[in-house]
Amino acid sequence: MTQQRLDPDRIPRHVAIVMDGNGRWAKMRGLPRLQGHNAGMMALKEIVKRSSVLGITHLTVYAFSTENWKRPEEEVFGIFKLLVLYVQKEIRELNDNNVRVNIWGDWSILPSDAQNAIRKAMRTTQNNTGLCFNIALNYGGRAEILKAVRSICSEIQSGAFSIDSIDESMLSSRMYTNGVPDPDLIIRTGGEYRLSNFMIWQAAYSEFVVTDVLWPDFSPDEYEKAILEYQSRDRRYGGLT
Ligand code: FPP
Repeated sequence: MTQQRLDPDRIPRHVAIVMDGNGRWAKMRGLPRLQGHNAGMMALKEIVKRSSVLGITHLTVYAFSTENWKRPEEEVFGIFKLLVLYVQKEIRELNDNNVRVNIWGDWSILPSDAQNAIRKAMRTTQNNTGLCFNIALNYGGRAEILKAVRSICSEIQSGAFSIDSIDESMLSSRMYTNGVPDPDLIIRTGGEYRLSNFMIWQAAYSEFVVTDVLWPDFSPDEYEKAILEYQSRDRRYGGLT
C-alpha cells in the first residue's frame, strides 16, 4: 500500500476528480456504456471511503456536465438512474461515516426521482461534520461563472453596491464553492489532459494529475499514488520557492 509513504501533514484539503474512461472500460469488455458507468459508481464508493480515512476535507467529482446532454438519451437517463441507485444504496453508510453530501450544478431540470434522491441525500447528511462530498451534476464551469455574474449584476441594478466593489472574493461567494477551499489537486482518469469545463474558476492554482487508468479501475491505491505525486509538487502560487 502507498499509505505509509504519504505525508500526513500534506494531505490535500480539497481533491476534485474528472471521472473519465467509463465508456472505454465497457467497450474493452464488449459491454454497453452504462455498465461502465455502473462500474464507475462502485469505484466512486471506494474513493469516498478512502478520502475520509485520509482526512481529506472536500472531495468533488464531476458526474455529469452541461455538455453531457449531447450523449444518447439512454446513457443520459441511465446516469441519472445510477444516481438514484447510488443514494438508495449508499446513503446510510455515508451518513454513518459522517459524510456530508452536496450537489453542485443545475439539478432543477433533472428527472423528478433524481431530484428526490438529491434532496434526500442532502437533507439526511446536512448536519454531518466529516468529509464534504460534492457531486457536480449538470454542472459547467462557464455556467457557474455566468450565474455568479448575473447575481452580482442584479444586485448592482437594485443599487445594493457599485461596480467598483466587485472583487474576486465577491465572485467566489456566488459560486457553488462558496466557503469551500479551491481544489488543491485535480485528478483526471482516462489519460486526457483537459479540464472539460470543470471548476475553471477554482482551478487557478490547482495541481493537476492525469492517469491513464480508466475510472472504474481507479482503486484507492491508485488514488494514493496520485496524492503522492501531488505531495512531490512545489506549489509556488506565482511566487518563488
Ligand atoms: C465519463 O466517462 C463519465 C461520465 C460522464 C459519468 C460519470 C458517472 C459515474 C462515475 C457513475 C455515476 C455516479 C453518480 C454518483 C451519478 P466517459 O463516458 O466519457 O468515458 P469514455 O471517455 O471512455 O467514453
